[in-house]
Amino acid sequence: MPLITYILPDGTEKPVDVAIGLSIMDGSVRNNLPGIVAECGGSCSCATCHVHLDAAARALFDEPVDEEVQLLEFLDGADEDSRLACQLIVTERCEGIRVRVVDSAG
Ligand code: FES
Repeated sequence: MPLITYILPDGTEKPVDVAIGLSIMDGSVRNNLPGIVAECGGSCSCATCHVHLDAAARALFDEPVDEEVQLLEFLDGADEDSRLACQLIVTERCEGIRVRVVDSAG
């Protein structure tokens, strides 16, 4: 299982193994990490799974679909590093990536 390091809103780093095929959101929720709320359960409609990825990590995932782009457009604090974690599906290439979690609990 790829090791993913979640950098939590308070700066703490939490490395966790996330199974291939799960989303970055799943990996956070299943390990009870704070920051990602995932209100809609992963259907790309709530934007409470906001994360930042560096360019190298972004290149490992599919391009965002229109729904995700639109949600990010209206999200406070979103920039070109932003993605919605429920849309980021873990593959074997994700080993060692770092994901900065934005606090969505508000
Ligand atoms: S969990 Fe709702 S948009 Fe990702």
